[in-house]
Amino acid sequence: MRKMAQLCREGIEDLMKEKSLNAFIFSLYSSSHVSAALGGYPLISVPIGYNRLPAAANASQAPFEFEEATVAGIQAAFKDGSLTSYQLVQHYLNQIAALNPKLNAVIEVNPDALDAASQADRRRSSAGGPIGHFDGIPVLVKDSISTRDKLNTTSGSLALLGSVVPRDAGVIKRLRDAGAVILGKASMSEWDHFRSLEAPQGWSPRGGQGRSPYPAVGNHPCGTSSGSAIAVAANLVAVSLGTDLFGSITCPAGTNSVVGIKPTSGLTSRSGIVPISPRLDTVGPMARTVEDAAALLDVIAGYDPLDAKMTKAAAGFIPSGGFRRLLNPGGLSGKRLGIMRHPYFDFPSGSTEEKTFASHFGTMKLKGAELIDNLRLKKERVIQNYTTSGQSTVLLAEFKISVNAYLKHLVSSPSRSLADVIAFNKRHPVEEKMSEFGQQIFLASEETKGIGAAEKAAIKRMEELSEEGMHKLMKEKRLDAVLFTLSNFLFATSIGGFPVVTVPAGYSSSGEPFGICFAGLRGSDSTLIEIAYAFEQATNARKKP
Ligand SMILES: *[C@@H]1O[C@H](CO)[C@@H](O)[C@H](O)[C@H]1NC(C)=O
Ligand SMILES: *[C@@H]1O[C@H](CO)[C@@H](O)[C@H](O)[C@H]1NC(C)=O
Ligand SMILES: *[C@@H]1O[C@H](CO)[C@@H](O)[C@H](O)[C@H]1NC(C)=O
Repeated sequence: MRKMAQLCREGIEDLMKEKSLNAFIFSLYSSSHVSAALGGYPLISVPIGYNRLPAAANASQAPFEFEEATVAGIQAAFKDGSLTSYQLVQHYLNQIAALNPKLNAVIEVNPDALDAASQADRRRSSAGGPIGHFDGIPVLVKDSISTRDKLNTTSGSLALLGSVVPRDAGVIKRLRDAGAVILGKASMSEWDHFRSLEAPQGWSPRGGQGRSPYPAVGNHPCGTSSGSAIAVAANLVAVSLGTDLFGSITCPAGTNSVVGIKPTSGLTSRSGIVPISPRLDTVGPMARTVEDAAALLDVIAGYDPLDAKMTKAAAGFIPSGGFRRLLNPGGLSGKRLGIMRHPYFDFPSGSTEEKTFASHFGTMKLKGAELIDNLRLKKERVIQNYTTSGQSTVLLAEFKISVNAYLKHLVSSPSRSLADVIAFNKRHPVEEKMSEFGQQIFLASEETKGIGAAEKAAIKRMEELSEEGMHKLMKEKRLDAVLFTLSNFLFATSIGGFPVVTVPAGYSSSGEPFGICFAGLRGSDSTLIEIAYAFEQATNARKKP
């Protein structure tokens, strides 16, 4: 006892006297706590925060396996108490901190993500229960998708840094209504690669050069939704959102061995998206499984009064009970699939790609699909050429109109028009790498003068080509989908705003992932998802990096 009293005097009492303190402060579990207890000194403790939510962890449960976690797996773990949303978000934030310096997949993390996760955890444990299907599920979104929170929305460009968006994008509103946690902003090809042809895909001044977690792919992750694909592939998150016009979801998905759904344009709202073309832009999910991508599509698809015309027209494409209801391992049975063999599956004889696809086609037949091989589009050369198809004429004019409208409606912004952005780039040649990449697409777009005779003729041409191309082929051969690998066949699908689903299909001998694409006419999203799911279940091709 005497020894204790002496220790106290030499410790705390001497310290207080020497420094003439009124009190001293410490956090729990420090040795000061023990000293205070020893002396029987008064102590007041005040709660100041949480490192993780109290409760939940179920001791009888195996620890949650974060790697390759699926949305359904996360939801099950939330339910049985083996995982909280807070723990999950913390894990992903740690992964981003550790891996993003190498991958450049994420531009910003949401400073409020952990708070949103705690709120979801509290909701789940309260009488009210989860507010929606995605309650507590973290989602990473492309930097061109507006979020009205602490995150910047910049399309990868410094010219938009500090701009304030008027509201959440339509798809973000749906995510928040379903309880999702916005984890952060994914890197991308700056301005959806619509500034300059010279700029590499996956590069932006804000995000740097995105890198695939597959070493053989490295600095060529494809674009423009590169960060959304890389992050999912590298397990920085389970699901993400990208945007697409001609291959911006499907190409990085295939290149980084994840699933990408490019929905029919208008199936998901484009309000609050940094645009290229309101007729053709689309927002879609990326995930490691078709099931997760379909689950996310179920959350974001549907009518939005701020994108009324096209979301209303496409609302009928949503199956009752949602896209997830179509997930059925027998989904290939009875489907007629057209193989766009030449040149889209022209691999060197004996190559891994050739053998892999031969095996996949065999599997599809085994599962009851009918394959119609060696198909070609009529007018293929014209359709596949961005210039002759009319797409370049139309998109240059539509980009100027729609990006000007986007910039004008911002609450505040350093750039208010395409002309401002062009001037900004000239003033910041080093950061925007102007001498390397220039901005010739911007300059050509700025030259356009609205939708005049040439643009109207080009729009008509695109409609005719989509009729003579995909429509005719699908009808004549009574196809449920056409099949191709990554290539400029994507122009044939972009011309009509057609949906495409990409699924991991294999790896080259040097380890580069490749995907298979299933495409169809507007509104065939549910059929494509059904086919893609059955293909995925039968082939199970994805290998984590
Ligand atoms: C804990 O896990 C066990 C085994 O899965 C389950 O039966 C039990 O309901 C869980 N407890 C809670 C509180 O969730
Ligand atoms: C948004 O950009 C500003 C710079 O304008 C920066 O200070 C802020 O941290 C950014 N927000 C996030 C969440 O990173
Ligand atoms: C596309 O068409 C234009 C105009 O006819 C031509 O100059 C260009 O070489 C074509 N591009 C390709 C890839 O064939």
